[in-house]
Amino acid sequence: MPCTRLPRSVPCRPTHATTLLRNHRPASGHYIAQLRERASDTAASSSFNLQGSARLQSLPLHIDPSMAASLRWTVAVAAVACVLALQGAVAQLSPTFYDSSCPKLQSIVRSAMAAAVQQEPRMGASILRLFFHDCFVQGCDASVLLDDSPTLTGEKNAGPNANSLRGYEVIDSIKSQVEAACPGTVSCADILALAARDGVNLLSGPTWAVPLGRRDTRTASQSAANSNLPSPSSSAATLVSAFASKGLDSRDLVALSGAHTIGAARCATFRSRVYNDTNINAGFAAKRRQICGAQPGGTDGNLAPLDAMSSVKFDNGYFRNLVAQFGLLHSDQELFGGGAVDSVTAGYARNGAAFARDFVTAMVKMGNISPLTGASGEIRANCRKPN
Ligand code: HEM
Repeated sequence: MPCTRLPRSVPCRPTHATTLLRNHRPASGHYIAQLRERASDTAASSSFNLQGSARLQSLPLHIDPSMAASLRWTVAVAAVACVLALQGAVAQLSPTFYDSSCPKLQSIVRSAMAAAVQQEPRMGASILRLFFHDCFVQGCDASVLLDDSPTLTGEKNAGPNANSLRGYEVIDSIKSQVEAACPGTVSCADILALAARDGVNLLSGPTWAVPLGRRDTRTASQSAANSNLPSPSSSAATLVSAFASKGLDSRDLVALSGAHTIGAARCATFRSRVYNDTNINAGFAAKRRQICGAQPGGTDGNLAPLDAMSSVKFDNGYFRNLVAQFGLLHSDQELFGGGAVDSVTAGYARNGAAFARDFVTAMVKMGNISPLTGASGEIRANCRKPN
């Protein structure tokens, strides 16, 4: 069967369209026709419902043998100490952190996420985005979950988050179930990391062991939320440097952006793309303009799927869209816009397994951004406020 007629998980023979993807040229034919069809299906409704070690033998000859042996030993001990110190620096978190203190944690999170995603598939996407917006601001410390209060300005009303981030109630509900099972033990930051993983997996994406042991911050930063979270109008160079500032390379950037294979965006975030960009499929842009007026106003909140083909399925469709110039956000299309990261995007468009593998690696890296551990921070009783 041709690839375009089958679910992407089924082995298939390349068609004209998939061959074009291999050649990194804008696709045409069947795939475009399918994209157009889907684009119009979803655009029809403005209330879119997203149901070694070192070589120690070669010491200089003028050293006496006993001294050489002692030196070798010292160097070996120092090398082991270095490795341990390095591991401590990057991997203070561990997937087994709560195994004895809260053995039911993973099953509580999984069943709560299963219920939430069954009720509304888009919730898997919304929770994944919450995790990203947490980790990019002060690190993965649950700062994003704090409500504004007379003594604290949270991040929820920052530009990239206001009227946009969702899923807080799902995290509250998981937290109260976890508190009932293991009071005062599990951080909101870890619950969010697990819930994001499960949301991806429940929408047919990969699963992985989540390193745990994060603690919750007592502070938040609205200004950091405004400055650290990338804008949908960003260029590829700006995206690369925003991710580099968090220790993530350009491959991580592309893989993590593949999160846009699920979920939706508001017209306000893609208006400029569908009215002004030239590297966009013309039919696709026209369909999106139908639900997104040219001027800011009444249509700002109208939703469109980030992946026109399968926005409730975690697959590599997002990258196939980009190669065909069906990216919804300007920042999405920048990942296949004639620059250095195009080859990574084209690779993921061809190879869904490579995308899944790199996405997992990059999620673990992102989850390692500046966690609070040990005696830092706290285990919040209520994810919305410091204790
Ligand atoms: C590369 C830079 C990124 C930019 C500029 C960006 C921007 C956006 C924008 C503008 C939206 C739509 C928001 C709205 O209309 O309310 C969105 C949605 C989304 N983003 Fe990103 N994003 C980026 C990276 C990421 C990453 C790294 C992840 C996760 C690993 C992610 C996950 C999502 C998800 C899942 C949604 C859909 C949420 C929902 O439907 O509720 N994004 N993003």
